[in-house]
Amino acid sequence: MNNRLPDSQHARLDGGASVPQHVAVIMDGNGRWAKARGLPRIAGHRKGVERVRDLVAVCGERGIRYLTLFAFSSENWRRPEQEVRLLLELFMTALEREVKKLHKNAIRFRVIGDIEGLGEPLVGAILAAQSLTAMNDKLHLTVAANYGGRWDIARAARALAERCARGELAASDITPASLEPYLSLHGVPEPDLFIRTGGEQRISNFLLWQLAYTELYFTPVLWPDFERKEFVLALESYAGRERRFGHTGEQVEAARHA
Ligand code: IPE
Ligand code: IPE
Ligand code: MG
Repeated sequence: MNNRLPDSQHARLDGGASVPQHVAVIMDGNGRWAKARGLPRIAGHRKGVERVRDLVAVCGERGIRYLTLFAFSSENWRRPEQEVRLLLELFMTALEREVKKLHKNAIRFRVIGDIEGLGEPLVGAILAAQSLTAMNDKLHLTVAANYGGRWDIARAARALAERCARGELAASDITPASLEPYLSLHGVPEPDLFIRTGGEQRISNFLLWQLAYTELYFTPVLWPDFERKEFVLALESYAGRERRFGHTGEQVEAARHA
């Protein structure tokens, strides 16, 4: 088999694992959920935190090792100032409330994104949560906050350019494999399944690099309504797919029986 494929892709071709190892989610539709009930948008965001709890629990039960959630994009600063402020406060409250429980459940918590932009005291709380849970290995829960896929790739490109400037690397030697170690999710297998709730069918500057071969699942269900059974539907949809990574269907079939 083509040995240029990353290990995670080999594994899928060979074994046909039906449970994704890594699920990435754009939790969208909180505002519309609130509006439909005559509530302020923040009420939808609050309800959304409960769904995160469910999702984390199901990942634990089903042996999903990596969960990456888009909580706040680099473009979300364009929202009304009050919504941004309330969202950051909610993030802080959720962290304060949940971190001990995450740690007790052996969950490693990380934030990717330009966290300095989130300001104190959130940065302090994030760093504390990250170091508390750093040695945990059951589920790797990553929250993307003040994150943008373009920001991530540009930052990696800058790191490579700096190495070139120092004479450590020739520009002509740059490959996808040499850029990857500088991305925020370095060391994490690429997402197998991407879920976006809320009906929009777009990536909105999430994990641009890592979603190259991810199975995409879009649902009109708004994030605050995305209960366990909805996640199970997404997992069932994933289990029924054939991932080919550029091969033919016959090659995949042969690998399955090898
Ligand atoms: C997603 O819900 C949460 C964040 C972007 C923070 P939205 O707030 O985007 O909800 P809609 O899309 O307006 O319904
Ligand atoms: C994407 O949702 C970002 C998050 C869920 C955090 P948005 O609601 O901001 O995306 P657009 O603006 O509709 O593309
Ligand atoms: Mg939205």
